[in-house]
Amino acid sequence: MADKAKVKIKGYFTDLRGWFSLPKRREAWIETGNPKLDTSDPIAELAAKLHPGTIHASIVATHRETPTSQTFTLAPLKGSQLPAFHAGQYLSVKFTIDGKTLTRPFAISSAPYEALENGRLDITFKVKPGGYASEYIQENWHVGTELVLDAPFGHIYYNGIRDSAHIVGIAGGSGVTIFRSLIKEMLHSGDRPDRLTLLFGSRNSSDILYRKELDELATAAGGRVTIIHVLSEPEDDWTGEKGFITAELIGRLVPDYAEASFYVSGPAALYDFIEPELDKLNISPMRRRIECYGESDNIVRHPDFPGQADKTYTLTVLLGVDRREVVALSTETIAVALERAGLAIDTRCRSGECGWCRSRLESGRIWQRPQSDGVRARDKDVGYFHPCSAYPLEDITVRVFTRL
Ligand code: FES
Repeated sequence: MADKAKVKIKGYFTDLRGWFSLPKRREAWIETGNPKLDTSDPIAELAAKLHPGTIHASIVATHRETPTSQTFTLAPLKGSQLPAFHAGQYLSVKFTIDGKTLTRPFAISSAPYEALENGRLDITFKVKPGGYASEYIQENWHVGTELVLDAPFGHIYYNGIRDSAHIVGIAGGSGVTIFRSLIKEMLHSGDRPDRLTLLFGSRNSSDILYRKELDELATAAGGRVTIIHVLSEPEDDWTGEKGFITAELIGRLVPDYAEASFYVSGPAALYDFIEPELDKLNISPMRRRIECYGESDNIVRHPDFPGQADKTYTLTVLLGVDRREVVALSTETIAVALERAGLAIDTRCRSGECGWCRSRLESGRIWQRPQSDGVRARDKDVGYFHPCSAYPLEDITVRVFTRL
């Protein structure tokens, strides 16, 4: 008991001595301290790098890949920086046509490490004949064209918790862009996935995007990457795989497919075709990553499309107290009708998935493409829909909540 009291008293005097010496120590710190205030904030700096908001960039190089595909290399303008992204994601790009602002998604075809090291990233685009934005881009985007980018989006990227170490990639046409990014990143980082088997469907051999580069990357990967071309309309001298990427072809060429995760990226027709084929192989939804469905090249060919070709309807647009009447084509999405009228809404995926374009149908009938119907059941009950994947079936009135 006595010892405990001694310790307590001793501690008390030590504290007092320390307290009395504080002013002197403080004076010494002030004497030797840096008079400049340290305003650095590493946490805020990291957050800004990961979420840079709107990015201003310009095209610094263009490269024609095939007669209908082109790669644009972008670099940030002063005061902007490229965003962090995963191999496999896409960017929403904002630009104007005849003074009308619109957005379109573009897959990032370069690797994340290249953006970090060189401050550059590639987007690759394929012309859709007759597409509102597509032909304009082909004719008007050159070195020096300035663009506005939004943060990267998309869920097809490697996740070691979710995905197998072996990825089977199924690409159609320009859908291969995300695999170019992934293969480059695999080679650079040496990280997982351990293996990628890419089944790449093209029309004919002159239509194969990045053919030489992908073959060189596969060779450099030393067995980690296998690329198999499958041509639907091959030339007579083609000795490789022919036809479509069927369950039979996957089973024959990828014997261990049952343990793999599948990434699918390509035009809408590929998704319609491949899903039943993956069903035949009992690939569970957990092991399928399907890229955004994208806009339809020709909705009239969709087996369920209930509309008519070559019809025009009146689209009444409400925004706040503003009311405008514009023309909508039966074969174009309501988002495109708004863009043509200079009333563009903000979009990201243009596949009905992200909900960015969510609007409300006040009257009239529309058709929401089933493959791109990401509207929640409760939202549907009160009239919400996604104009990026919906078509008018008669005169309609729509309330929008955002405008570019
Ligand atoms: S832009 Fe994504 S749902 Fe319409």
